[in-house]
Amino acid sequence: METWDAVRARRNVRQYADEPIARADLERILDAGRRAPSAGNWQPWDFVVVTDRARLVELSKVWARGGRHIAHSAATIAMVAAEPEDARRRELLYYDFGQATANMMLTATDLGIGSGHSSVGDQEQAQRLLGFPDGYLCLFLIGLGYPADRPLRPLVKPDRRPFDEVVHWDRW
Ligand SMILES: Cc1cc2nc3c(=O)[nH]c(=O)nc-3n(C[C@H](O)[C@H](O)[C@H](O)COP(=O)(O)O)c2cc1C
Repeated sequence: METWDAVRARRNVRQYADEPIARADLERILDAGRRAPSAGNWQPWDFVVVTDRARLVELSKVWARGGRHIAHSAATIAMVAAEPEDARRRELLYYDFGQATANMMLTATDLGIGSGHSSVGDQEQAQRLLGFPDGYLCLFLIGLGYPADRPLRPLVKPDRRPFDEVVHWDRW
């Protein structure tokens, strides 16, 4: 897929076909995250990949409000970071994780694989399941799987504010 097509085709996919994702495709998605830019190139991320169904079901419970799709994903990437030292580092951390997320989601789209964010509420449950060390946080989950609803195609009318309302040329 062309990059421009992948940008327009990505959407949150929360219903997944019962089809595994090939290891090479998962590795490409993870590598896209690893290659993302970060402040001072500090690369604050660790990724824990979960594919076991029973563990995915348990993982989905860390965010009861919006994490149900994780239970049905073919694989989920848990994005883990050391707790930031201060507010400035926290801001940078979230910016950098956003960039890694976008890289991974676009790469998944390019492969025809759907992706869907989930926040993380219960850090204790996340740590118990994922086994990351004390002093670390699981910031987000990205559920992955082939879409069960419809294939990923460029969206003609995305649910977005109009271009001319968002974009200011030269000056607001
Ligand atoms: C920081 C962030 C957190 C999000 N958390 C959740 C979540 O917990 N559960 C969920 O279903 N979607 C979550 N989303 C997905 C957004 O709701 C979604 O991206 C937005 O509605 C736009 O839809 P689209 O991604 O299909 O274009 C999150 C997105 C972002 C950027």
